[in-house]
Amino acid sequence: MNLAIVYTSKTGNTEELVYVLRDLFLRKKIEVCLFRSDQFPLQDLPSFDAVIIGTYTWGDGEIPVEMRALYRAFETMDTKHVVTGVVGTGDSFYPHFCGAVDAFRDMLYAHCRLAVTLKIEVSPQTTDLERCRRFADTIWNKIENGA
Ligand SMILES: Cc1cc2nc3c(=O)[nH]c(=O)nc-3n(C[C@H](O)[C@H](O)[C@H](O)COP(=O)(O)O)c2cc1C
Repeated sequence: MNLAIVYTSKTGNTEELVYVLRDLFLRKKIEVCLFRSDQFPLQDLPSFDAVIIGTYTWGDGEIPVEMRALYRAFETMDTKHVVTGVVGTGDSFYPHFCGAVDAFRDMLYAHCRLAVTLKIEVSPQTTDLERCRRFADTIWNKIENGA
C-alpha cells in the first residue's frame, strides 16, 4: 500500500495536523510518505494508492500558490483509481473558511476516489482528535473496501 500525504504550511498549523494524521496511520501499521508540496514527485502521482492533501487557505478562500501544480496534476493525469482526502486549517474569521479544502474537494470529486474532507479551526486541539481518527478510518475503509 502506497499512501502519501502532500502538504503545505506557512506558520505550522497544517503541518501539525498532518503529523497527527501520519501518527494515526502509523498506529494502524500503514506506512505513510510525507511530502512538502515542493518535494512531491508529481509525475509519480498515479502510482499512489492514496493521497492525502493538507493545505491552509490564503487570500479570499484561495488555494496557496505552491499547491496549484498538485491541483493541476490531479486534473490532467489519470488518477481515477487514487483514493484521496483533503484536510486543512483555516480561520473562520474569513468569509470562506478553509476555502482551499472546498476547492480541492470539488475538483477531486470529479477526477479520483475522494473519500473525505476535514477542516480544522487554526490548529488541531485534543478535542479534534476524534475527527482526525474518523478521517483516517474513512480513508482506510475506502482503500480496503471501496466503501
Ligand atoms: C493573508 C491571509 C489570508 C487568509 N485567508 C483565509 C481564508 O480565506 N480562509 C480561511 O479559512 N483562512 C484564511 N487564513 C488563515 C490561515 O489559513 C490559517 O491561519 C491557517 O491555519 C494557516 O495555516 P499554516 O499555519 O499551516 O500556514 C488567512 C490567513 C492570512 C494571513
